[in-house]
Amino acid sequence: MCGIFGIVTANNQVLGTTLIEAGRRLSYRGYDSVGCASLSDDGTIDLRKDVGKVDEVASRLNFSEMYGKRGILQLRWATFGSPSQVNAQPHLDSDGDMVGAHNGNVVNNNELRAQFIARGMNVRSDNDGETCVHAVELYIDQGHDFVEAIRCAYHDLEGDYAFVIGKVHEERLYAIKKGSSLVVGLGDDFTCVSSDLPSILPFTQKVVRIYDGEIVTLHADGIEIRAVESGERINRPPEFIHESMEAVQKGGFPHFMLKEIHEQSTVAGELLHILDYSDQLETYLDKVSSARNVYLIGCGTSYHACILGSVYLSQLAKRPAIPVLAPQFIAQYAHSVDHQDVGIFVSQSGETKDVLNALEVAQKRGMAVLSLVNVIGSTLMRASEAYLPLGCGYEISVPATKTYTNQVIAFLYLAQKLGSYQDLGLYKLPELIAKTISIVEPKVSQIVSRIKNRNDFYCLGYGLTYPVALEGALKLKEITYAHCEGMLSTEFKHGPLSAVTEGFPVIFIAGPQDIPIIVSGINEVTCRGGYAITIGEDDSRLHSNAHDVVVIPSTNTYFNSILSIIPLQLLSYKMSMNLGYDPDYPRNLSKTLTVD
Ligand code: AGP
Repeated sequence: MCGIFGIVTANNQVLGTTLIEAGRRLSYRGYDSVGCASLSDDGTIDLRKDVGKVDEVASRLNFSEMYGKRGILQLRWATFGSPSQVNAQPHLDSDGDMVGAHNGNVVNNNELRAQFIARGMNVRSDNDGETCVHAVELYIDQGHDFVEAIRCAYHDLEGDYAFVIGKVHEERLYAIKKGSSLVVGLGDDFTCVSSDLPSILPFTQKVVRIYDGEIVTLHADGIEIRAVESGERINRPPEFIHESMEAVQKGGFPHFMLKEIHEQSTVAGELLHILDYSDQLETYLDKVSSARNVYLIGCGTSYHACILGSVYLSQLAKRPAIPVLAPQFIAQYAHSVDHQDVGIFVSQSGETKDVLNALEVAQKRGMAVLSLVNVIGSTLMRASEAYLPLGCGYEISVPATKTYTNQVIAFLYLAQKLGSYQDLGLYKLPELIAKTISIVEPKVSQIVSRIKNRNDFYCLGYGLTYPVALEGALKLKEITYAHCEGMLSTEFKHGPLSAVTEGFPVIFIAGPQDIPIIVSGINEVTCRGGYAITIGEDDSRLHSNAHDVVVIPSTNTYFNSILSIIPLQLLSYKMSMNLGYDPDYPRNLSKTLTVD
């Protein structure tokens, strides 16, 4: 939620292009507004910010000419204060000689703002990023040095956040981490700090991770880390990250989403290889098979993968597992779990706050914590007793595609290992995924032209395709802004069927084992004038009952449940394009939700 970047260099120079580049790579974290501040030797702060995405605002406000020794950039996903120019970050202190920006939420924002206003401070916005700046200003004005002022502010600012801040006539920036992610980059004559690695790696591969409760002082030639509570220095050697930055380019595709859909075949193959050679797998399997109860915990798309995973585990391994949305895990199960239970936490980012909240509760209750996580080094990965990486590389587009597919493949792999009696031949999946993408595209485009003026849909599945229906509906609503409800097909007649009028589109996902029940559902819709679109294998029962059938390759029921999301990903993408939206950055959303 939101992204911050700060850089300290040895000499005055044009910093705008560096800040824009960092902003582009952080833009998956928020894009309601963007701002840059540069601090130069003459004691001035050049602050430019506005509503919009990085490239729009950068060209409108000429970020590329921004000059100085130190720079701060922030991309916002609005929580406190509407997305407006005044609430855009970075923010100045009362007399304009200090500037800072944050990522996360300060939950006592309103109380602190009221106190600052009562003290006569110049509070210009409703935003909690500004509150961080004034919280430091308060203690600087009382005579504390910068690090000491930040330590005091840390105790006043409630919530989870990270912020970066600097003052004129100094050579340094300071950053602090409490809950939100923070990484430092070390270059030859600069240091930088950011919410995430992709914005650092183009400049340096030498990084230092910052942990909760730490303050980092950035000089052009090095950093100092201190513990907030004790004030003691912490020495942490840098790591070298050997990652290709090609993954964060569009590679000839118009959008990251389309690129990531097409990558699904390759990353599925890579995942299977990783799992075959994982040194964590044994622990994983032992814990899952010996647990009293297994909970599969995630949010959004990752939760849908949990539901499908629970079906695989039950059907193939006779291992019941309870899929649950992370916040609901706390409300519903926290009281009844202990060391006999296992939680598999599923997350692309490994930083989703709702998931980390559930993780904290699970750990307090003594549960074993396992994870399926894409971002290596994420908080979730580090907190897990054993983790399995999803092996997808960067997923930049806000709608999750390849990480969902690898989540469900990982669950299928686990279920097969635990069941150990059935070899599904998982290595056929990459080819089947590639084939699905290539054969469904023309039919999907045809369907888009038929339903393009509709903004109300249902997406229905049964058994193994029920979670696929939920995920397909999420994709559609996320990037087309239409209403689309995913549902168990048999539930449709218990209420929502009343929405069906002439031409009303209902999408059915037909697993090969469930065709008779799906055909009943189709007819309940078509006999009332509804328009039935079906995704399934080439089966005459589907062709003769539905208006449109998107045919996917014939295979077993388990692979079918993996392949059938692909037409829905493509349908959502094409619908979004047709409406003129940017599917990579849907309005109001953010890739990584690090707030409650
Ligand atoms: C899906 O397209 C979304 N971007 C969203 O539902 C996402 O899956 C959810 O926010 C959880 O994120 P995570 O996997 O990083 O924890």
